[in-house]
Amino acid sequence: MTVIAIDGTAASGKGTLARRLADAYGFDHLDTGLLYRAVGLAVLRAGGDPEDPIAGLAAVLALDLGALGDQDLRGDAAAQAASRVSAIPGVRTALLDFQRAFAGRKPGAVLDGRDIGTVICPDAPAKVFVTATLETRAERRWKELLQRGHEAIYTEVFDDLRQRDERDRRRAVAPLVPASDAFLLDTSQLTADQVFDQALAFVSRRIGPP
Ligand code: DC
Repeated sequence: MTVIAIDGTAASGKGTLARRLADAYGFDHLDTGLLYRAVGLAVLRAGGDPEDPIAGLAAVLALDLGALGDQDLRGDAAAQAASRVSAIPGVRTALLDFQRAFAGRKPGAVLDGRDIGTVICPDAPAKVFVTATLETRAERRWKELLQRGHEAIYTEVFDDLRQRDERDRRRAVAPLVPASDAFLLDTSQLTADQVFDQALAFVSRRIGPP
């Protein structure tokens, strides 16, 4: 099956890009961050510590994949908890089969996350690593939160992204790093349409046009 692997930093625009590529090719799309967010949120709701391996493993084993539409998963508390539980090796191992099975879907799949091109689907024919400066990402996320009616403070959004990136890059297992054969796409100076056009040009060269 054809897999398009989209990895990158938090709030880089990788989710929007992944959805658009999936639509263009008629592939299914999996936002793998939601899996880690669901585990992180479950630990918080049980009153546990997201850095405690036992709490993380209990939550991942009881994970209800049907609840991935939960609105709270999009919030900052879930994001921070996700970044913590995702450093627990057993949590990552428990989520591996589900992600690989999804990647095997016909006629193809787009997965976005941090380790799709390096760990989950190292043989994916098309890999894109999306990033942007921390300032750009924080400003985009902050405006998005305000538009949705949230009371967001820019410096808090900035710190949240900085902490998560640092933790995701430094962890021992499946750290946030571009695959050696990934197309590096810095979206700092690009519109969403330009990001899509550049990624599509690369993906088309690898797997053919949609
Ligand atoms: O993509 P996101 O912001 O929803 O991800 C939330 C956290 O989950 C992120 O900070 C790190 C973790 N994550 C991961 O470790 N591996 C993935 N494939 C996706 C997300």
